[in-house]
Amino acid sequence: MKTKFTLSFFFLGIFSLSVMANDSDKTESYPPTSMPDDVKAVIQNKCFGCHNTDSKNDKAKEDLDFKAFADLSKMKQISSYKKINEVLGENEMPPKKFLDHYPDKKLTEDEKKVLMKWAKAEAEKLVKGM
Ligand code: HEC
Repeated sequence: MKTKFTLSFFFLGIFSLSVMANDSDKTESYPPTSMPDDVKAVIQNKCFGCHNTDSKNDKAKEDLDFKAFADLSKMKQISSYKKINEVLGENEMPPKKFLDHYPDKKLTEDEKKVLMKWAKAEAEKLVKGM
């Protein structure tokens, strides 16, 4: 009885460790800002593949690198948030050519709203803090 008890604790421990390890893998790739989970999920799923430091898409990462975002000056962050809002408002991202091949990467209306609201609020926060 006692070994069974200990054993189940052992497995519970392993299980939670692996869950934690998974979690940190995911968040590691993001700037240490307080990005809400819903925003993070959309960016990870629909933007991050091109817009990160290790992306093979040079043009995309030059324009916007979510991994290096926190290192940008405040001015640059503000202008990036504005750009994000612009491209989303115009349905320019993800790029149309890419969506022809991966239609499931198109933003839903809800996802678009989540991102635009977030980018606007973040830009305003930074402006106020200046
Ligand atoms: C398939 C790759 C790809 C994906 C996915 C993608 N982008 Fe882009 N993005 C690009 C490229 C390439 C550029 C460079 C501009 C251009 O040539 O169109 C760019 C440019 C941008 C710019 C800068 C525009 C400017 O005028 O400076 C912003 C902002 C942006 N993307 C936001 C996003 C957001 C937000 C998402 C997710 C909803 C996203 N992108 C998804 C490839 C991508």
